[in-house]
Amino acid sequence: MLSDAAIDWVIDAYTNGRVAEEQMSALLMAIFLRGMTPAEIVRWTAAMITSGERFDFTDLRRDGRPLALVDKHSTGGVGDKITIPLLPVVMACGGAVPQASGRGLGHTGGTLDKLESIPGFSAELSKDRIRQQLRDVGAAIFAAGELAPADRKIYALRDITSTVDSLPLIASSIMSKKLAEGARALVLDVKVGRGAFLKTEPESRELARTMVELGNANGVPTRALLTDMNRPLGRAVGNAVEVAESLEVLSGGGPDDVVALTLALATEMVDAAGIDGVDPADTLRDGSAMDRFRALVAAQGGDLSQPLPVGSARETVTAPRDGVMGDIDAMGVAMAAWRLGAGRAQPGEPVQFGAGVRIHRRPGEPVSAGETLFSLYTDTPDRFSAALAELDGAWAVGESAPADPPLLIDRVG
Ligand code: URA
Repeated sequence: MLSDAAIDWVIDAYTNGRVAEEQMSALLMAIFLRGMTPAEIVRWTAAMITSGERFDFTDLRRDGRPLALVDKHSTGGVGDKITIPLLPVVMACGGAVPQASGRGLGHTGGTLDKLESIPGFSAELSKDRIRQQLRDVGAAIFAAGELAPADRKIYALRDITSTVDSLPLIASSIMSKKLAEGARALVLDVKVGRGAFLKTEPESRELARTMVELGNANGVPTRALLTDMNRPLGRAVGNAVEVAESLEVLSGGGPDDVVALTLALATEMVDAAGIDGVDPADTLRDGSAMDRFRALVAAQGGDLSQPLPVGSARETVTAPRDGVMGDIDAMGVAMAAWRLGAGRAQPGEPVQFGAGVRIHRRPGEPVSAGETLFSLYTDTPDRFSAALAELDGAWAVGESAPADPPLLIDRVG
């Protein structure tokens, strides 16, 4: 059992270069193999928060009242563009959202990569700018930057020592950044299934429970939804293609599953923020969420009047026969999008904003022989063969509709 003092010391000393990489690697491996007690996870997370600044926006007022500061975090999915329509819905309902966000690594996309596909959009915001935006616009989406610097260093070491997939280390890593960003309530979307970080429901449930406890122990009421990530969300996987789909949702259309998850999370966030008497669905119908999105993008330098980038080369996959679209494996589509250039293999690599996959037929939809099922986009056509190989076997056309698993699996907290 690590004492509080030992945890505080090792996090501080490692962040400041006084503990050797070899020693920290050994400790991470011990945690990876043996786990941590709940008390150790709480202290480890608190020490990571203390390694940097913890934002406090409780003094900000709008119309004389404190801001209803609330945020969400997703453990990462395929086609998971939900933050993009969700934030404006919550803003239009009266919430204020300080969102520290990340760039993608490996098969999961990052919200910042998607938003940066909007010409001019910047997520490099100073603290003063974040405060001003929260007060005047109602949200700010910013790179985690100096929040929990211990996490950045420890995450890089986990990456090269194969200790990323440790539940206590994942939970403390995510929550250290989310608890430092200044939200007063948190809603987590914990993914379950083939395209998720953790594949099985018991593991995801345990991650959700651990993160909810960490939030509550640090004074930020936290709840989680467990949601299905076996199939991609919606019909677009990539960067700009996902922004385009989010704009459809904000215009009152868009795929049913994206709309349903946006509204389920918005309902939780609005409730967690203590806002009564609003229906998030109204904000999609009456255009108020779209207005908030335009204001947010404009505040961060983005220009929605410019066309979104689209990969200069296109390849299609067509239906081999008549029938019904079967299940689509989220991981196969994610890997295809990554091969096309939508994601990165190493931190800091550039991504192609116009790369991605459009899914023309979702599971259960009728299919005619020869029609286009998937469109693939990239600026580097030599990537097509690897992307097509990833898609191969990730879908099938059958005789009847596949089982339709529920999107919302459970609620924790
Ligand atoms: N996201 C994080 O921020 N940290 C992890 O450890 C895993 C996912």
